Amino acid sequence: MARMSESMTTVETAGDNPTITLRPKPRSAPIDKLGRKLHDLRISVTDRCNFRCKYCMPKEIFGAAYKFMPREMVMSFEEIARAANIFVQLGVRKLRLTGGEPLVRKGVEELVERLTAIRAPNDEPVDIAMTTNGSILDKKAKALAKAGLKRITVHLDAIDDTIFKFMNDVDWPVAKVLAGIEAARAEGMHPIKVNTVIKRSNNVGEILPVVRHFRGTGITPRFIEFMDVGNTNGWSMEEVVPGDEVISIIQKEFPLVRLDPTSAGETAQRWGFADSNGNWDPKLGEVGVICSVTHPFCSQCNRARLSSDGRVYLCLFATTGYDVRMMMRQGASDEEIKAKIESFWSARTDRYSELRSSLTPEIRARRHKIEMSYIGG
Ligand code: GTP
Ligand code: 5AD
Ligand code: SF4
Ligand code: SF4
Repeated sequence: MARMSESMTTVETAGDNPTITLRPKPRSAPIDKLGRKLHDLRISVTDRCNFRCKYCMPKEIFGAAYKFMPREMVMSFEEIARAANIFVQLGVRKLRLTGGEPLVRKGVEELVERLTAIRAPNDEPVDIAMTTNGSILDKKAKALAKAGLKRITVHLDAIDDTIFKFMNDVDWPVAKVLAGIEAARAEGMHPIKVNTVIKRSNNVGEILPVVRHFRGTGITPRFIEFMDVGNTNGWSMEEVVPGDEVISIIQKEFPLVRLDPTSAGETAQRWGFADSNGNWDPKLGEVGVICSVTHPFCSQCNRARLSSDGRVYLCLFATTGYDVRMMMRQGASDEEIKAKIESFWSARTDRYSELRSSLTPEIRARRHKIEMSYIGG
């Protein structure tokens, strides 16, 4: 009798002639050195973007002379879907498409369709999401919804058109992005979240306008502390508006109550709009603050990242990644790639945001971090 491998499980079918089939045994997700279980994969589909937000792709660096990734280095949709499937078999239950700007990658809806076809062991649900700048979402929402995308997060730094154009630095009108959000809503996408990165000298005055615009619409704005990602965004602590300050600015106009996290490792602290009795009124909705600088959440960080050239990074502030695309192109099997990712995750100790305040500006400057546009938020 053939010996059964330990990684196999038997499935017997009922009937007069029972047959025994072998299926891979679902493995439990790898756990890193700090006890964190792999759960999310953020997939960058391109390093390009049609915006030039100063805190992410400043024009001085990402100008006409900037060399983006050559086409042959970019993972094909087939390769991305294969990598995503491997991660799902390893325990990942949330896939988020990012960029650069994911919607500038031609035919990205075809990738969404491939990802929605991925099945987790025991038919557990796999959450598929996208973070976009919304600039062409009005044109793309229908195709994305048809491909199976159910939720979306739109990056929007201001409601005021002049400030919005100043932030994106390509003169893109805010009305186009608001139209994109409406188009996603018309397609029934839910939840829709709005990500607003706050820089003190640029858009702190936009916190209340953003809140007023979305309160009661079912769309959740989240204010993100400006981070020192990459090497080019001129980060300084003076430009960071702490999430606690954001909440107190909002509370002056709209009373808020703290809400529980919806899942372990959630990036945002949730706050609900209160009714006249001081209780959360779900009809008014909620806001969030993402305090990655003042209240780092590394101890719960369950996210791996896949760059558009197929490297796996274990932290937004990592300096090196493991080249899965090369393994694929050299003919490695799914099992070999799985084993590599497992060993990589099991050795993980990253917790940059928790260490940031103990690093001197010189040490921070010497660390050659990856750019946000390369790896996605
Ligand atoms: P939800 O599923 O809606 O909770 O999504 P999310 O908050 O995980 O994803 P999103 O892309 O909306 O992330 C929002 C922002 O949080 C990003 O743009 C980053 O600024 C920040 N962020 C997300 N993940 C991390 C992380 O692992 N580390 C740090 N330091 N910041 C992160
Ligand atoms: N700090 C915080 N968030 C940032 N993002 C980009 N650069 C930064 C930064 N320096 C976020 C934006 C965008 C996502 C891709 O990453 O919200 O939506
Ligand atoms: Fe593009 Fe988003 Fe970076 Fe702005 S923050 S330049 S929209 S990738
Ligand atoms: Fe995770 Fe790194 Fe962000 Fe900490 S800094 S939450 S370890 S990605």
